[in-house]
Amino acid sequence: MPIFHRPSLACLSIALLAAASQPALSAPAAGQLLASQCAQCHGTNGAGPGFDSIAGKDDLYHELLEMKYRSHIEGIMDRQARGYTDYQLRLISDYLSAQSGGGGDD
Ligand code: HEC
Repeated sequence: MPIFHRPSLACLSIALLAAASQPALSAPAAGQLLASQCAQCHGTNGAGPGFDSIAGKDDLYHELLEMKYRSHIEGIMDRQARGYTDYQLRLISDYLSAQSGGGGDD
């Protein structure tokens, strides 16, 4: 039994060390990853070129919720918004609102 304990503890500590060093290779924030889907139509970080610029826009979250929960689909954005959970829309909005190049507050 002790023979098995040592190697497995060694493996565990290597695994923990590997996990602890992950931040050096950290992935982009969730909001940035989710918002990359918007870039094909609104430009990188929502700042155009493309359709309406959405970078730096105030209250993006409520606008997206309105699109998502509209009872009938009026346009392309209603379909886009329906593809995300409210929480994902919040992450996307927080990320895009903090970007410059912006669409102002309309
Ligand atoms: C397939 C293309 C496409 C994608 C992808 C897309 N949009 Fe749009 N979006 C549009 C178009 C086109 C409009 C212009 C209004 C309309 O036609 O519905 C628009 C309008 C908007 C508006 C309203 C802008 C304003 O000034 O009122 C917001 C906000 C918005 N999009 C956010 C997003 C977000 C956030 C994403 C990613 C989750 C996204 N869009 C992904 C095409 C797209």
